[in-house]
Amino acid sequence: MTGALPPDRRRFLTAGAAVLGAAASAQLWLPATAARAAETPLPDGVFTLGVASGDPLPDGIVLWTRLAPDPLHGGGMPDAVVPVEWEIAEDERFGRTARRGTAEARPEYGHSVHVDVRGLRPDRPYWYRFRADGQLSPTGRTRTAPHPHRRGGSLRVALASCQNWQHGYFTPYADMLAQDPDLVLFVGDYIYESKPSATAVRRHEGSDEPYTLVQYRNRYAQYRTDPDLAAMHANAPWVVTFDDHEVDNDFAGEIPQDPDKQSHDAFVARLTAAYQAYYEHMPVRATAIPDGPHIQMYRRLEFGRLARLNVLDTRQFRTDQATTQEGAESPSTTMLGAEQKQWLLDGLCDSPARWNLIASQIMMAETDLLLGEGKLWYYDAWDGYQAERNALLEEFADIRNPVVLSGDRHLTMISDLKEDFADPDSDVVGAEFVGTSISSNGDQDQAAFHAQWDPLKADNPHWKVIDAHRGYHLFDIRRDGIDAQVRVVDTVVKPQATASTLVRLRVESDEPGVQVV
Ligand SMILES: [Fe+2]
Repeated sequence: MTGALPPDRRRFLTAGAAVLGAAASAQLWLPATAARAAETPLPDGVFTLGVASGDPLPDGIVLWTRLAPDPLHGGGMPDAVVPVEWEIAEDERFGRTARRGTAEARPEYGHSVHVDVRGLRPDRPYWYRFRADGQLSPTGRTRTAPHPHRRGGSLRVALASCQNWQHGYFTPYADMLAQDPDLVLFVGDYIYESKPSATAVRRHEGSDEPYTLVQYRNRYAQYRTDPDLAAMHANAPWVVTFDDHEVDNDFAGEIPQDPDKQSHDAFVARLTAAYQAYYEHMPVRATAIPDGPHIQMYRRLEFGRLARLNVLDTRQFRTDQATTQEGAESPSTTMLGAEQKQWLLDGLCDSPARWNLIASQIMMAETDLLLGEGKLWYYDAWDGYQAERNALLEEFADIRNPVVLSGDRHLTMISDLKEDFADPDSDVVGAEFVGTSISSNGDQDQAAFHAQWDPLKADNPHWKVIDAHRGYHLFDIRRDGIDAQVRVVDTVVKPQATASTLVRLRVESDEPGVQVV
């Protein structure tokens, strides 16, 4: 379906000429001035970056595109506001249009378009497309969230993270597309900011790490040219959050990885550019339009009474990483910041949902890296912020079915969440899935991985599965339980791969923890 011009194009073009008022509440919805740029002829191929949708509501969805006929070199658009017609329909042939309107693609937002469509029906598919200066976009397919009171049904969620262009092709998305999820949850490292490498499977554009807005735009645009990624965006709504590599490895708030190389002012300018490019390329609401070096990313999405999804921001509000074991246990450190922490607790305690999902960029369960006596932790993950993590886990004991969905590790790590990892006898209070990576770390040597990591299982008895294949996790969420699959591919160093289910797991409702089945 993606990329094919619908057979009924003539009708769309005719109807589109008479732009009808619609329920678009997008900030960029300014039809009165839209016509002024219409005389500027556009280069061919303005829709090279495809289409996307995201953050579904029972009655709404965000539709996205960005006009970029020369995507790797600043976009290639004239410095003018361009009207972009959009249409969303209940059928693939656009015979039953639900809403249509005109948005503006503005140069100051990289000619991105975000349409916040409302007035749709719950829990059903929709098809959408854009038109600019006579050019028609590929058709996208999306889905609204269930009615707020709906208790039953099922929700199929794909959990993805960490797609390093240079480490491989994004082959897991071809399998994800075949699995037809209702929602893709992406928990960070959508791009990597690393320099081009001559030895990479695919080489990053440019000549350096991105620092400026144009450089970050070019990097996002390059990633969107991966055909499997583009097809997945065009076929399901995504819910996204960022981790560190969308800006700078291991940054914390306004502190860069290497403060001796980047002054505070320079890093604030870099954050400002990175967040703006992130907004421009993601199907998110106008609430995520950055305010300088700040972006509002933590938010909640509801899927009837079945699931509540709490999307965290574990980068902007954290204190700098600890460098010692004592530092990791210090009560003065915070991962979420006071405001977000309270927001999360409120959302968990008040939840009417059967499942309380928490999208966390980084792993929450303990990773003890020291064989035998003593502990050694990764300080960038929740292990480096233990006082706050442990307080949260204590709360989990009173929360209905908390399940944490994470990334960052470039491994599958599926764990029981313990109320206190320091006490082996403490209760299991939840489950965590760390969803490997789409391509980061490339095709790993599985034997070498197990030789290194299997001995650590004795120190980490809460681990249920550890694995180093590339792929993603797939969840079928129903009232009585979550059936999970670890979907893996045999390679990311070639553009096509064979996918399979590595392991199946089950989380029973009201029985904390996860079991291999
Ligand atoms: Fe990563």
